[in-house]
Amino acid sequence: MIRVAGGERLQGEVQISGAKNAALPAIIATLLTSEPVILHNVPHLADVDTALELIRALGKEVFWHGDALEIRGGEELRWEAPGELVQKMRASFLALGPLLARAKKARVPLPGGCALGPRPVDFHLYGLAKLGATIDFADGAVLARAGGLRGAQVYLDFPSVGATEQLLLAGALAEGETVVVNPAREPEVADLAALLCRMGAEVRWDTDRVTIRGQRALGGAEHTLIPDRIEAGTYLLAGAITRGKVRAKGVAPRHLASLLDRLALTGCEMEVGEDWVEVLGPSRPKPVDFRTWPYPGFPTDLQPPMVALLTLAEGRSTVTETVYAARFGHVEPLLQMGAKIQVSGSVQVVEGVERLRPATVEATDIRAGAALVLAALAAEGISQIRGEHHLRRGYENMPSKLQNLGARIWEEEG
Ligand code: UD1
Repeated sequence: MIRVAGGERLQGEVQISGAKNAALPAIIATLLTSEPVILHNVPHLADVDTALELIRALGKEVFWHGDALEIRGGEELRWEAPGELVQKMRASFLALGPLLARAKKARVPLPGGCALGPRPVDFHLYGLAKLGATIDFADGAVLARAGGLRGAQVYLDFPSVGATEQLLLAGALAEGETVVVNPAREPEVADLAALLCRMGAEVRWDTDRVTIRGQRALGGAEHTLIPDRIEAGTYLLAGAITRGKVRAKGVAPRHLASLLDRLALTGCEMEVGEDWVEVLGPSRPKPVDFRTWPYPGFPTDLQPPMVALLTLAEGRSTVTETVYAARFGHVEPLLQMGAKIQVSGSVQVVEGVERLRPATVEATDIRAGAALVLAALAAEGISQIRGEHHLRRGYENMPSKLQNLGARIWEEEG
């Protein structure tokens, strides 16, 4: 568990790691080639370890050199993904497209629901079927076959990050052009496209679509992952909620536009450099309404941490979650800490309180965990957060990064 002695104003600089959500598809993209791929700026995270375990199980070799990964081998890929790895992490499902393209068949377990509610993979399967795959289900797994994938046009009913990535991965080795209409435009999707281009694919972004021209084979490449905008946002919010002054270094400020806009409305003062952002928290935040939305809208992954800040606002904020059916794992524990939040459908009405109180609470997913850490940093006294393994899935060295900002936070055997 994590123990936090809250009430300190955070101050200082924090170096932001490479993006988890860019690292995972990039690691899986290496299944598309047997030539070496070198990835730089890779965060050391439990989810990255899971992705590496997955590609090793499928036939790749992996070597760490500091924050760089060298991935090679895999002339012959195994075509069955181990079930426990997909259960552990949904992103493992992205292996389906590359396996189909390289091994012509694939068996990948269905990921099932998670703490954020039901999360189907219907768009992934719809898209792959349009590219010529036959899809069957057996024993909770997808069994897919394709003699050869052929590019096609796929309209996504929602700009799903995973489905867009799945189709870029499969399309990279399909014959002809694969066109995704209404694609996700998250920076992590664009980063995957950039890696695929370095490996030899051709990708074109238009207003309403992304087009990938498949190749017979892809080659090796060297690529540096983009910074983690969600990690950066979390530390900026840690500065804001403790009335502190935190500078996040090594970030892409343009990826944080929606957060910075809303933070300004809460009364935060901000400075933005080429690759850094600094936030100075107000003595008490003003309430602000927002809705989560696909990029460049407000990221759903920062909704729980932003709600943590708004629990201390002077007035009522209305927060609408539009990306997930039920992303409210932070609400119950925040109530235990004295917050006032009412959930109705997809809307949280947050009635700001003057202070939060410390408590022993449980993190149920990565970003709910981040919200609880922020609340604990603001609540005077000692809080304990169980379920720390969720934080390790998505935040590299979180306790020591926060300690460097002056937080009193420790990891303990729970
Ligand atoms: C990715 C991110 C996750 C982030 C999410 C939304 C990774 C590893 N994870 O997840 O951190 O919260 O984007 O920005 O990059 N959906 C369907 N059918 C599908 C696919 C998705 O109904 O076939 C729904 C999901 O249930 C969800 C919504 O679409 O409600 C968004 O999901 P999606 O964009 O696919 O998220 P992920 O790729 O799973």
